[in-house]
Amino acid sequence: MDADALYADVLRKYAKHINPGLARLMAFAGFGVEMRGEGCYIFDQDGRRFLDCLGGYGTFSLGHRHPRVVSAVRAQLDTIALSGKAFFSQQCANLAETLAEIAPEGLEYCFFCNSGTEAVEGALKFAKASTGRAKIVSTHDSFHGKTLGSLSVMGREKYRLPFEPLLPGVEFVPFGDSEAAARAIDSLAACMIVEPIQGEGGIVIPPSGYLSALREACDRAGALLIVDEVQTGLGRTGLMFEGLREGVRPDLMTLAKALGGGVMPIGALMGTERIWDAVYSRNPLSHTSTFGGNPLACAAGLAAIETIREEGLVEASARQGAKLLDGLKEVAARHSDLISEARGRGLMIGLEFRQDEVGELVVAQLLKRGLCVAYTLNNPRIIRVEPPLIIDDSQIEFAVSTMDEGVAETAELLAELV
Ligand SMILES: Cc1ncc(COP(=O)(O)O)c(C=O)c1O
Repeated sequence: MDADALYADVLRKYAKHINPGLARLMAFAGFGVEMRGEGCYIFDQDGRRFLDCLGGYGTFSLGHRHPRVVSAVRAQLDTIALSGKAFFSQQCANLAETLAEIAPEGLEYCFFCNSGTEAVEGALKFAKASTGRAKIVSTHDSFHGKTLGSLSVMGREKYRLPFEPLLPGVEFVPFGDSEAAARAIDSLAACMIVEPIQGEGGIVIPPSGYLSALREACDRAGALLIVDEVQTGLGRTGLMFEGLREGVRPDLMTLAKALGGGVMPIGALMGTERIWDAVYSRNPLSHTSTFGGNPLACAAGLAAIETIREEGLVEASARQGAKLLDGLKEVAARHSDLISEARGRGLMIGLEFRQDEVGELVVAQLLKRGLCVAYTLNNPRIIRVEPPLIIDDSQIEFAVSTMDEGVAETAELLAELV
């Protein structure tokens, strides 16, 4: 099958059997079929190469098919792939111990699942069970996943409304406003769930002292603090965990995305002994998952953490992120009629446009030039730039100059329209 026929065939099947609206959107933006991923690049059906600055929304921190993760998973395939769940799993045990070593102090226990939203579901359940309370405090524009429980705490009505009624007793407060949060975190609250930097909300960095203030408010009310590090965790922001910036110790922390090393899907919920005791002491099977903690995913997770530590990727994220942000700030200054701000931490960067529709046009221009980015789900004004932490200087230069050209061409197109 030649490249055009292959594209047409995949597009038709998406439209007929997967999601017609999404198929139209992806085709309109100019996305082809991903045929191969290698390091920081994705190759499509025409053999065109794209620098992946979307990074699977934080999944490809190690790039695509990092050799250490691939060989760990290959070796695992040759012994045992999935767990029957009756025997102990060495890989699961090793990953839990490794995560406890690097996690904020006190998070000694781990529940493994297969995605970010499952980790959040677990966190909400554990908070309810261990406090005996039902109220949950979350933030406007937050994103915690799309299964029913996670959706109940998602701060964007557009996604919640069609599926209501959802979990009762959720109160939303503005992100970054610790006083509003402290008022909502009362004696009825089981927990507050928060992203340390809002990803899908538009790469929103809270004022300093925010997480510490939430910690204090939770302690005062006897509520639990859940820090959702699904997108920020494992080096993305220039720290192993963004919550560590203020030295805050959450009661529960969620992880996924980068934990699979860009090779396997895996999620994890981490928490304290006291919470695990409350959930599991009477019934060790009170929260389980068939595929969670399987040997293949855990082997990938172990190799990913080893690589992040041994290759100094947390430091690389801070260093390369500063270079990329400087470059994008210059682009923003040159096109200040279209772009209002470039901001970010480490390699979690957002470019904010003055109008919603412009971001979408820029994404298409960049794609034409071999740079893959996307706008954030809860805020289409913001293009996210989240490349692999292994991005090098020449790739950063390419990303910045391509962004400059793409925005310039969008500005010309817009000028022709008026
Ligand atoms: C902060 C955060 N939490 C949870 C999720 C849900 O993760 P998943 O898509 O793996 O269910 C996401 C996904 O983008 C996220 O960014």
